[in-house]
Amino acid sequence: MATPLLPCLLLAALLSSAAAADAQSTAAASGCPDSCGDMSIQYPFGIGAGCFRKGFEIICDGGRPVLAGPTMPIPVNHLSIRTAEARVMLPIGWECFNASDVVYAWSGGDVQFNLEDVYRISNTHNQLVVLGCNTFGYIQSQRTEGNDYPYAYYTGCLSFCNDSRSAVDGACAGVGCCRVDIPPGLTDNKMYFREYSHKTRLAYSSCDYAFLVERENYTFRAADLRMDVNRTVPVWLDWAVRDNLTCDEAEKAQMSACVSSNSECRNSVNGPGYVCNCSVGYEGNPYVVNGCTDINECKRGEYPCRGVCRNTLGSYECKCPSGFHSADPFNEPCNFKFRIAAVIASGVAGCLLIISVVVFVWLLRKEKRKTKEYFEKNGGPTLEKVTKIKLFKKWELMPILRRDNFIGEGGFGEVYKGHLGDELVAVKRPKNVNLANQFTNELIIQSRVMHKNIVRLVGCCLEVDVPILVYEFVPKGSLDDILHCSRESLNLDQRLNIAAQSARGLAYLHSDTITTILHGDVKPANILLTDDLVPKISDFGISRMITVDKKYTGKVIGDLSYMDPVYLQKGILTSKSDVYSFGVVLLELITRKRVSDPDSLRSNFLDAYTKEKRVIDFVDSEIAVTQNMELINSLAGMIVECIDLDVDRRPDMIDVAENLRIMLKRSRRENTEI
Ligand SMILES: *[C@@H]1O[C@H](CO)[C@@H](O)[C@H](O)[C@H]1NC(C)=O
Ligand SMILES: *[C@@H]1O[C@H](CO)[C@@H](O)[C@H](O)[C@H]1NC(C)=O
Ligand SMILES: *[C@@H]1O[C@H](CO)[C@@H](O)[C@H](O)[C@H]1NC(C)=O
Ligand SMILES: *[C@@H]1O[C@H](CO)[C@@H](O)[C@H](O)[C@H]1NC(C)=O
Ligand SMILES: *[C@@H]1O[C@H](CO)[C@@H](O)[C@H](O)[C@H]1NC(C)=O
Ligand SMILES: *[C@@H]1O[C@H](CO)[C@@H](O)[C@H](O)[C@H]1NC(C)=O
Repeated sequence: MATPLLPCLLLAALLSSAAAADAQSTAAASGCPDSCGDMSIQYPFGIGAGCFRKGFEIICDGGRPVLAGPTMPIPVNHLSIRTAEARVMLPIGWECFNASDVVYAWSGGDVQFNLEDVYRISNTHNQLVVLGCNTFGYIQSQRTEGNDYPYAYYTGCLSFCNDSRSAVDGACAGVGCCRVDIPPGLTDNKMYFREYSHKTRLAYSSCDYAFLVERENYTFRAADLRMDVNRTVPVWLDWAVRDNLTCDEAEKAQMSACVSSNSECRNSVNGPGYVCNCSVGYEGNPYVVNGCTDINECKRGEYPCRGVCRNTLGSYECKCPSGFHSADPFNEPCNFKFRIAAVIASGVAGCLLIISVVVFVWLLRKEKRKTKEYFEKNGGPTLEKVTKIKLFKKWELMPILRRDNFIGEGGFGEVYKGHLGDELVAVKRPKNVNLANQFTNELIIQSRVMHKNIVRLVGCCLEVDVPILVYEFVPKGSLDDILHCSRESLNLDQRLNIAAQSARGLAYLHSDTITTILHGDVKPANILLTDDLVPKISDFGISRMITVDKKYTGKVIGDLSYMDPVYLQKGILTSKSDVYSFGVVLLELITRKRVSDPDSLRSNFLDAYTKEKRVIDFVDSEIAVTQNMELINSLAGMIVECIDLDVDRRPDMIDVAENLRIMLKRSRRENTEI
């Protein structure tokens, strides 16, 4: 008899372990949605079959989590595994009287949200509020509990008004409004009323209301005596695993829902059953296998340590480094251990200290002399007379030049973001001394220009080897970032506006100043944008100042992709070279393609324009719509003029700016007509 029994037992054991594995895999089943809208949904809660524990189903109704079961949707706006709570919106209970003092419509607010009995209405977070003139509202438990009354709980309060002026906003103390704490154990949202005559009070109180509500959420208003009967209010629910077992029983039967290692079970304080919690030093979800993970206390502000912190599983250590001591390194700083031997040593240390102070003072004076030299070398005395820009002291900028303020770097230097007084600034520091010329050049040019579309130089610091430049901070980054990295949507209007204003800035450089300034490195990365998409030209590192009608024949190294080929051949830089580069920028703006190989994009575009006038294939699909075509064609025409290899056929920057302004105006008019 024993032999045939053995395989059966084995089979049973196999089956039951398979069932256990199955139950655990549902707990962490992959393929279950882990959020709904922006609320994270974690086991035992879940969306869809096989994803939740019985009674914990959530339905994701178009991005809005609602409790499953009830006929009317109960929105959930908070779910916590850690505290075993849920915050839901429940309907209120009400009854309304007509002129013959008859209740002609009512609702107890009863919704079947608790079909599987996992919820209890939180007695610590909620209270019962009753409104009306005059009424007695109450709730009661739904099951008999075997004592001399039918039910275990009745709780409610009486609201009375002497006349229409009795109820006062903010006072819920028995006049028009009363409230009362509730006992633990309540399972349902069902209100009851004792009716009193409303005949003489119909004008200001034709309905009575009773509702459970989050304690701090409801403030009485006299106008609420006539509020909408369809109102819903926030109510906190305590949930628990309520399968008729306590922690001890569940553990004994090996049926505990607390399946994670490093988790603990606690008996529920509101109703039967139990809840699970990660052990001290762990966090996460105790209801899934390995859901509780170690907290790295050393990385968290709420775990104190004044010494050297070391994380351990479930806890952390805090010790003073060797040679230091503290009675309580968790809360008191570590101090240098001062032993008797050390007292003798301190004599020697004292001497050393005096010597180092002397050396320090000497170094300080030397440093001061050097600072002054740099200041003079960098043209400080001249710049001091230019009142437009501010000369900063070295120590004023030092706090900004820290790693965590670092926002970027280019060929020229490093850029940091910081506050100077109320102003947000970008501080540009050269990477090495060889860039001194570029920085001084940029400083001289920038201190002469002042235009809405040119990034403003706030000031500089000359007390260092190579000047540090301080600019207004332009928050949105460069046109290059927006076109190719964030790929933010830009309509034709916005693009024309960026183009027109950038052109205005360049035109100002070319003609509005006494001596013409050539930018020399016009490209999307050098056009910065404010939050309102106002462009600001930046980076004057290789710009040149030339007198009107002169040509510059020196060496300039800008970005080759945008560089005028005529200049590359002949080495003569004119304002038309900036026009060429700007033409390439416009091309990039409407195609949203990088011109890494300028020649092919340029020639393909020229071909398409001259042969068939079909530039549409090149244009970014976002703006390539029929009603834009006329404007895009005019824009393409202008681009073709700007990138013409015959320098004389290129328009002046001022004409480009004017044409773009007119196109922008036309585009705006057309768009408002639509
Ligand atoms: C779990 O433990 C944390 C920390 O001790 C506590 O704040 C929380 O209320 C506990 N949760 C439950 C459901 O007991
Ligand atoms: C009040 O409601 C009752 C019951 O619906 C109805 O019989 C009565 O006529 C109503 N009175 C008025 C004044 O509408
Ligand atoms: C109660 O109502 C009556 C009738 O409106 C009024 O005359 C009286 O002053 C009220 N008493 C108080 C205390 O409000
Ligand atoms: C009351 O709860 C509602 C719904 O969650 C919320 O919109 C409102 O801001 C809360 N009011 C207060 C005073 O907490
Ligand atoms: C309350 O809701 C019911 C059913 O959705 C609707 O018939 C009724 O008009 C609503 N009442 C108010 C005052 O909005
Ligand atoms: C819990 O026990 C009660 C009475 O003993 C029974 O009616 C109910 O079905 C049980 N519930 C579960 C989930 O086992």
